[in-house]
Amino acid sequence: MNRFFITTAIDYTNGAPHIGHAYEKVLADVLARFHRQTGEEVFLLTGVDQHGQKVQQSAEREGIAPQEYVDGVTAKFLALWEKLGVVYDDWAATTAPKHKECVRAILTRLWEDRDPATGASRWIYKAARAGHYSVRQEQFLTDKERGPNGEFGPEWGQVEYREEENYYFRLAEHRQWLLDLIDARSGEGKPFVVPEFRVSELRNAVEKLEGDLCISRPKNRLSWGIEFPFDPGFVTYVWFDALVNYLSFAPGYDPIPTRPPHEFLAWWRTVIHDIGKDILIPAHGVYWPVMLKALGFSDAEMPTLLVHGWWNISGAKMSKSLGNTVDPDVLADRYGRAALRYYLMADIATGRDADFSEERLIQRYNVDLANGLGNLVNRTLNMTLKYREGSPAPIDLPADLATHLTANTLAQETYVRSMRDGQVQAGLESLGDVVNRANALVDASAPWKLAKDPEQADRLDAVLATLILSARTAATMLLPVLPEAAAEILEQLNLVAAPLEERGLELLPAGYRCGEPKPVFPRLDAIVPPEA
Ligand code: ME8
Ligand code: MG
Repeated sequence: MNRFFITTAIDYTNGAPHIGHAYEKVLADVLARFHRQTGEEVFLLTGVDQHGQKVQQSAEREGIAPQEYVDGVTAKFLALWEKLGVVYDDWAATTAPKHKECVRAILTRLWEDRDPATGASRWIYKAARAGHYSVRQEQFLTDKERGPNGEFGPEWGQVEYREEENYYFRLAEHRQWLLDLIDARSGEGKPFVVPEFRVSELRNAVEKLEGDLCISRPKNRLSWGIEFPFDPGFVTYVWFDALVNYLSFAPGYDPIPTRPPHEFLAWWRTVIHDIGKDILIPAHGVYWPVMLKALGFSDAEMPTLLVHGWWNISGAKMSKSLGNTVDPDVLADRYGRAALRYYLMADIATGRDADFSEERLIQRYNVDLANGLGNLVNRTLNMTLKYREGSPAPIDLPADLATHLTANTLAQETYVRSMRDGQVQAGLESLGDVVNRANALVDASAPWKLAKDPEQADRLDAVLATLILSARTAATMLLPVLPEAAAEILEQLNLVAAPLEERGLELLPAGYRCGEPKPVFPRLDAIVPPEA
């Protein structure tokens, strides 16, 4: 059986989840459900990034231990995924012992991987560094970060001069290797970065790559981290801790042997990291492949990065300081899980940004689901019950209706291609085509008129069968995005989902009888969004 391993970014636990977090996790959940539906074996990994300065500071401010603080925030994420129906196979929480042990084992392995000539580690070294340091961004600044008059801008917050010893991971010497990897893995085959338009951005950043990655913080400055196995005066800093989650929680990973175990590799060869555009460069596009290389992964075993865009608010970045973050928990309570999931998948193209709007959420739901698919199912079932007691006679479809079903099959093929590319919005557009074509058939064929004309009996049976089969195709395509609603529709149709691939000519099963219609998508008109 083919496998599909999908991960998400692990969210910082220094604040409540927002709509961007919800989007990314729903996207992963939808793709995981789609791949399961195609018959693949799927593993979805998500979780939380619990260490770091900001957590330590927030906990201090509240006068509680950092673990207590992250447990509280983590509970909000867990509750949200439950509410949104995001189902995962493992939960990557970076304070879990399993993860800490894995990070420490990896550090030890890289530290002990020695160059025989010099006796030094080939990957990690300790060095002193002095310079200007941004406390807010937690990084040393270079002259590149200076503004036009030589000053560091306000975006860096408090800047101070610091002298500090730290551990560094060698990056710069792998620049050419990384460029070659990016070039070799663009276009056809298993891409390194999708969508394609992000590749040149990454390539340009790698061209300019210089310097190595600082992977530690002295414990007297940051204690809330994973202690270095070979130097207890330091903790692992940010990315070297966070990125490793993809391995420490992967099925079957063992950091000790130099060649990863077979069971793990069978999953890993399929891995897709679902991440936002802000963490492509440098974290996932530069640090991560070099880290994997250091761990003995071959070029073919480098992951695919599925880079999504951002939800903005009236074109502006969402941020806690601007106070314009959108709380997905409130939205799910107000409009329901289905409306929120559908909106997050239908109103953004994977890779691009979109503007979040509650009006759009309501409109999308009412137009696409209540008036579109919901109405199609409702009137199809009502007419089938009224004119044929639920059982249209089995007859051969006339050419125009056979063509109608062929168009559905083509729409479903387009849908499968879009979903395989992670383009859920495009997939839902294909679903919309099926729904619109079927609703147009209702209007054009007017079954209520056919029902009055005995000479049109065959035509009425054929139209009803076509509508029922169209509704089944639509429900099949809706399953990954709205599993409960799609299952409800299939139950009312009294049909199982269509196979996603290798479809022949569709027919209603012998002795078919439809079920009772019940509204699946009641309109949301009654809910007025609060003033923005
Ligand atoms: O970056 N729209 O965590 P994070 C869409 N812990 N996506 C958004 C978004 C928005 N407005 N805002 C944030 C981190 N995201 C690290 C990741 S992974 C090994 C470590 C996305 O909580 C963002 O792009 O800041 C990222 O993919 C995810 O939410 C978590 O962001
Ligand atoms: Mg962030």
